Amino acid sequence: MSKSLQAIRGMNDILPEQTPLWRYFESTVARLCDNYGYKQIRTPIVEFTELFKRSIGEVTDIVEKEMYTFEDRNGDSLTLRPEGTAACVRAVLEHGITGGGQTQKMWYIGPMYRHERPQKGRYRQFHQIGCEVFNLDGPDIDAELIVLTWRLWGQLGIRDAVKLELNSLGTSESRGRYREALVEYLSAHLDKLDEDSQRRLKTNPLRVLDTKNADTQAVLVDAPKMADYLDDESRVHFEGLKARLDAAGIPYVINPKLVRGLDYYSKTVFEWVTDKLGAQGTVCAGGRYDGLVEQMGGKPTPGVGFAMGIERLILLLETLEQVPEEISRQVDVYLCAFGEAAELAALALSEKVRDQLPNLRLQINAGAGSFKSQFKKADKSGALYALILGDDELGQQVIGFKPLRGQGEQQNIAFDALAAHLATCVVQG
Ligand code: HAM
Repeated sequence: MSKSLQAIRGMNDILPEQTPLWRYFESTVARLCDNYGYKQIRTPIVEFTELFKRSIGEVTDIVEKEMYTFEDRNGDSLTLRPEGTAACVRAVLEHGITGGGQTQKMWYIGPMYRHERPQKGRYRQFHQIGCEVFNLDGPDIDAELIVLTWRLWGQLGIRDAVKLELNSLGTSESRGRYREALVEYLSAHLDKLDEDSQRRLKTNPLRVLDTKNADTQAVLVDAPKMADYLDDESRVHFEGLKARLDAAGIPYVINPKLVRGLDYYSKTVFEWVTDKLGAQGTVCAGGRYDGLVEQMGGKPTPGVGFAMGIERLILLLETLEQVPEEISRQVDVYLCAFGEAAELAALALSEKVRDQLPNLRLQINAGAGSFKSQFKKADKSGALYALILGDDELGQQVIGFKPLRGQGEQQNIAFDALAAHLATCVVQG
């Protein structure tokens, strides 16, 4: 195939064989969000570039080098959304739905775009499901978000493979004081820092804590600790969150170096990480962003949320072999018809059955074919039963009913009794 007809690097098709697992995952999360009282929000995939610059932060990797930004025909600078929080903040401001201190609990799903170096678990178009909560400032809601994800890992059968890392970045005041102390310490060891960290020291010093460079890590061992700079408000909040996680029986580790790659966080930050996927092990991440709405021009409005990477979680389900068998079966019954008269009768009969059993997954053979070839297709479809209609059956107004997996003899069922019979043997979702 010529190069121009390939998908863009890092942007993947999700093929028909893969979508049952995606839909299983998505519907599991959607149900859970509903059950915890979150309502879905849908925002555009493209926003003004300014939105992301002002919320995520000018000196973050995302804004500095990963955004898909272009000018539209009006000369406006637009960007494909690299994440979902910024748009939620814009939407609540634009529609005034957090005005007067009104609580909003929302969730979203969709593709996000970042021009990163593609590798396993890291793509340029990837999908997130996220939750955001506005106007609740206590640790109870931070805990609820974490509890919700913990329940999800349980439902998906991956609890043992993920670990919760937790930190508090404090209020902006306490973080400011910590930043000063960190800059002072690191400046005294400037020659031992890697090039990237030297640059970050000037632009976004907290991100130096994130370094993978061994020499810089060695310097950080004796660096001031964020926990020592937390003010009382942040400390009480963090203790409140830990107490709730303990009460819910959710294990966690405190990671004082967890700072996150987006600038809007304050107080709680957390990541769910796995060691089963190689380098891209963070499957879900989030935290509190109490200053963001105000920074974007609104009234002071606390916010907290998370987003999970669907591709990474799908990979984890596959790696751990936690893909439920039944989700790949898409057909309950496959109808084989032989000859034009039988085909016409099959169509009419199927539509009657569908009227009575709206959830039945009934596939009619298309493209005619011999007995052998239709039967092969019935088997390959994964159906539990085949229905067989030829001239003989048509003459008697019956249809052959043949179990394809497991026991049971073929039998003839009267047209009128077919729906009732199917209802007894096919579990309908
Ligand atoms: P984030 O850490 O940038 O946070 O992304 C959240 C999750 O999205 C990551 O933990 C990962 O699972 C997935 N992810 C990120 N980049 C990629 C990629 N290139 N390929 C595949 N998966 C990826 C946020 O986006 C924040 N908006 C989360 C948040 C919501 N904080 C508060 N509310």
